[in-house]
Amino acid sequence: PPEIAEIERTHIGLYQDFPQPGVLFRDITPLLRDPKAMKSVIKYWASTVPGDVDLIVGTEARGFVFGAPLAYEMDRGFVPVRKAGKLPGKPTSLTYDLEYGSATIEIAENAVPKGSRVLVLDDLLATGGTAAATIKLVESLGAEVVAASFLIELLGLGGRDKLGDIPLHTVWSIQN
Ligand code: PRP
Ligand code: MG
Repeated sequence: PPEIAEIERTHIGLYQDFPQPGVLFRDITPLLRDPKAMKSVIKYWASTVPGDVDLIVGTEARGFVFGAPLAYEMDRGFVPVRKAGKLPGKPTSLTYDLEYGSATIEIAENAVPKGSRVLVLDDLLATGGTAAATIKLVESLGAEVVAASFLIELLGLGGRDKLGDIPLHTVWSIQN
């Protein structure tokens, strides 16, 4: 819809060379601080996301600020995937490679029942490393990832190729 397309132009900031030279950073905070635009986006997102899902898994940190309102709108539970060392009990961990070094993400024990149908969500799909790791983590618990959904897909970075057969859903796909 034109209204949703317009919000991408007016509510996503662009910063050249942040956080590193050569990177064009997309800033979601103008969207977050406009409740009318945020409501429109969340409602549109909830109405277009594919599949029948039991719960929504979002990845720290920016996956939380869209995952929680989307889950609320869809009347589903939200489960956070956190950076290492933040979750109590015996979380399940997964370490994955970054361009330089590695990162570890975790999900709480018993948070995702075996066989449940999960929507994996984040604000941004860039190289796909974060999403691929989140999907792997959820699948390792015996759940089914029925779709991966993003506010923004940056085209040209190979992100979608890292998601295998999992259906991809995005609010905005934009050329990087
Ligand atoms: C950003 C963004 C996605 C990820 C996308 O998160 O929020 O999670 O990068 O990049 P990728 O597809 O190349 O993995 P970041 O790790 O910067 O942390 P944050 O969400 O905590 O700000
Ligand atoms: Mg992130």
